[in-house]
Amino acid sequence: MSSFFDDHFAIQRHVMPIVDPNARQVMKVCLTAAAMACLAISPAMGAAAPSTQSRAEAVKKVPMQDGKSIYENVCQGCHMAGGKGAVGAGMYPALANNPKLEVAGYPAAIVINGQKAMPPLGEYFDDRQIAEVLNYIRTHFGNRYTDKITAAEVKAMR
Ligand code: HEC
Repeated sequence: MSSFFDDHFAIQRHVMPIVDPNARQVMKVCLTAAAMACLAISPAMGAAAPSTQSRAEAVKKVPMQDGKSIYENVCQGCHMAGGKGAVGAGMYPALANNPKLEVAGYPAAIVINGQKAMPPLGEYFDDRQIAEVLNYIRTHFGNRYTDKITAAEVKAMR
């Protein structure tokens, strides 16, 4: 599964330059494809015959639940391992040692609504998943912001 996502984001980084006005749409399609592929190869979920409804829900949500897995499968493709960021076809800010993560509302708003070349990702996660990944990046990569944002706070920001 992880290699699929790695390849997926490696390709995406090449096909989605920061100036591309279709970037958001491309990201939407990519994430949708990623979620579908992941569902297809997940033994637990793959076993269930996809009814129209469960398939529609599955396409929408990223399946990973914990902050580390979400980071590695969704965020890392752009923000890189260790949150070190990248400069290439676009500028992907480092999340490592990043004082802008001190107030959780800032990264929460960006993940939910997007900002410039960062696509809005809110609809691909439930509130708890967003809280998990935010709490993960705020306590890793040299960041030590241990006050946790809750799912309820994420919900209020949508
Ligand atoms: C498609 C690439 C991409 C993905 C995937 C992505 N980001 Fe970003 N992110 C960006 C870009 C580009 C920016 C800079 C946006 C700007 O210019 O303001 C950014 C900015 C940010 C910022 C603000 C950093 C700062 O110093 O202001 C945070 C926090 C962040 N992203 C968190 C995340 C998290 C958490 C995830 C995963 C849930 C994620 N990003 C997924 C591309 C991405």
